[in-house]
Amino acid sequence: MKEITIDELKPGMYVQGIVEQRGNMKIKSQGKVTKRAIISQLRKQGILKLLIDPSKEFTPEAEEQDPTPEPEQPLSEEPPEETEEKVAFDEEISQAKKLHDQGKNIQKRMLNSVAKGLPVDLKMPKEFSEQLVGSIDRNPNALMCLTKIREKDSYLLEHSLNVAVLLARFAKYLDMEEEEVQELALAGFLHDIGKIKIPDNILHKPGRLTDFEMNIMRDHVYYGVVTLEEMGLPEHIVRTMAEHHERLDGYGYPDGLRGDEISLYGRMIAIVDTYDAITADRVYKAGMPSQKAMKILLGDSPKMYDMELVQKFVKCVGIYPVGSLIMLDNGHIGMVVKQNEELPTKPVVKIFYSSRNKAFLPIKDVNLKTGQLKIDKGVTPSEFGLDFNRFFQERIAI
Ligand SMILES: [Fe+2]
Repeated sequence: MKEITIDELKPGMYVQGIVEQRGNMKIKSQGKVTKRAIISQLRKQGILKLLIDPSKEFTPEAEEQDPTPEPEQPLSEEPPEETEEKVAFDEEISQAKKLHDQGKNIQKRMLNSVAKGLPVDLKMPKEFSEQLVGSIDRNPNALMCLTKIREKDSYLLEHSLNVAVLLARFAKYLDMEEEEVQELALAGFLHDIGKIKIPDNILHKPGRLTDFEMNIMRDHVYYGVVTLEEMGLPEHIVRTMAEHHERLDGYGYPDGLRGDEISLYGRMIAIVDTYDAITADRVYKAGMPSQKAMKILLGDSPKMYDMELVQKFVKCVGIYPVGSLIMLDNGHIGMVVKQNEELPTKPVVKIFYSSRNKAFLPIKDVNLKTGQLKIDKGVTPSEFGLDFNRFFQERIAI
């Protein structure tokens, strides 16, 4: 094995790995350098030093003198996948996990300040939302996956964080501008901040609220508006937060806005907030599967939600959302880590458990698009007595 600089790389060499690189673009790091175009591509991707295996050198096919550089993946012997992943899932997931934990801490600190009537500094949530969007840019599936990993008793913290992640992901899916993605992430992160002003016996009441209690609960939007205005957030972000419980038919709150009176951001946050609330485990109820949440949202459209947006959200999240568990027809259980948009029932899954042998398996990525295996059904960890959160922390997000 020999270390060389990118300037020394020539066609005919075999690259064993990347030693030094600017930026964090993920590239296929092993393979033959068959032509010059590959070298210029590697240079463009910020590769500085590589490890080559001299024993695997070969004679490259003759090239025309002035080869047009191909916008192709370097070192690639198999066709590149059309992908939104600049960084591999396995690489981004530990970063995403840290961000996820950090998000919960920031949320906790903000809620404490609001509870004590202290001012909340905008800098912290703003910087955090930017980092969150950065992670989604690198690999949207890492944070999306974490929206499925929930702890007991952290609903308010996780819900706000999840709404931020899901909204940013949704906005990206809709091809919105970078600035809009950031704004939606921030609005999502702050949308329930007013809840801390609601008395605990109502906020955590297991079961249905009485009309009287519901009226008090609804004030969380009012407290939210006051807090966000004090933080100095622009009017349209305050409005997004203020509209998260408005519904198209005018039966939402606090203002009973109808149809076009609700902004695009407001319609988006309403869908995402409802989706996460339905799928969340609460002290008094188990979360519903995503498929059921989608059904509810579709059923309540176009009455309450914007039908077109709900349909797009369903496509964005997928039938088997990233982070959810599925069982294959061979009894193996895995977690969805990537959608195949054109084949929604054939995602990429990380297999880790055999339901037949009741034993963990070596973790392996399986792309159902190419293999023979099929999804049998969606499952939950509790059906198999699995402490999936622990396994996830120890083996996947390490
Ligand atoms: Fe809310």
